[in-house]
Amino acid sequence: MKILSKEILADCAGSRIVKLTLDAPEISLKARPGEFVVVMPAEKGERIPLTIVEADTKARSIALIFQEAGLSTRILGGLSAGDNLYVLVGPLGHATEIKNYGRVILVGGGVGIAEIYPVAKSLKEAGNEITVIMGAKTKELLILEEKLKSLADKIYPVTDDGTCGRKGFTTDVLEELLKEGKYDLIYSVGPIPMMEKVAGISRTFSTRAIVSLNALMVDATGMCGCCRVTVAGQVKFSCVDGPEFEADKIDWDELRKRNCMYQDKEKHICKLKFSR
Ligand code: FES
Repeated sequence: MKILSKEILADCAGSRIVKLTLDAPEISLKARPGEFVVVMPAEKGERIPLTIVEADTKARSIALIFQEAGLSTRILGGLSAGDNLYVLVGPLGHATEIKNYGRVILVGGGVGIAEIYPVAKSLKEAGNEITVIMGAKTKELLILEEKLKSLADKIYPVTDDGTCGRKGFTTDVLEELLKEGKYDLIYSVGPIPMMEKVAGISRTFSTRAIVSLNALMVDATGMCGCCRVTVAGQVKFSCVDGPEFEADKIDWDELRKRNCMYQDKEKHICKLKFSR
C-alpha cells in the first residue's frame, strides 16, 4: 500500500488533479476496466472510492487519478511517494463489458477523462473504432490528452474558455457526430449534468449509452445509501450494482436533486476543517 510515485497533472483555477501510483501486487493482476478501489489515507480518514485508471501487471502497481474536491481527497493529495496508505481495497464494482461493438464514442468531462481512459484502451484492443470527446474548463485541466490521442481514431478536445480545441461543451460535439454518422455505443463519465445531457442525446439518436456513476459514491460499502439511484424503476446502488448503468434508464431528475442535497454543508465543513 505504498505510494510509488506522485504526479500533479493539473493545478490551476483552484483545481488540483493528482495521479498516485501505488504498489498493489494482487489488485494489479485482477483489475479490469471500470472497476474501482477504496482508499483510506489515514486511520481516522474517510473511505474514498476511486477508479483504477491503470494497472501494470509487470510493475505490480495501479494508478489512481483524482481531483482534490473535499477534505479527504486533499489529505490524500497531500501524501508523497514513500508514504503508506492506511487502507487499499479492491478491485470493486462491476467491470465494463468489453467487446467489439463497432464504432464507440467516449465522452469524458473534467476528471472523468481519467475514467474513460482504461475503457477506451480496452475497447480499442477489442477492435472498436474509438472516438474521444474530452472536455474541461481550461487547457491545463485537459488531462491525459497525449495518452488518449495515441489510442483514439479521432479525438475532440473541448474547453469552456476555448484555450484548447473547440470552445463549448462535449455534448455539442457528441450531437454533431451523431448527426453525421451512426455509432454503436456511447460511454460517458463526468459531471452529472453532462451525463444527463448525454442520455438525452443518445435517446434522440437511438444510440445506446452507458454512464459511470462513480462520482456518487461516498464510502462504497453499500450501506450509506448516498449512491442510491433509480434505474428502470428499481432502486440500485452505484457501489454495489454499478458503477455503470444504461443512461436512458436512469431517473435523472431524482439523481440531480439528491446529488445537490448536501452541497452547502459539504462546503461549510471543508472550509472549517481544511484550508491550504
Ligand atoms: Fe454508500 Fe454506495 S457509496 S451505499
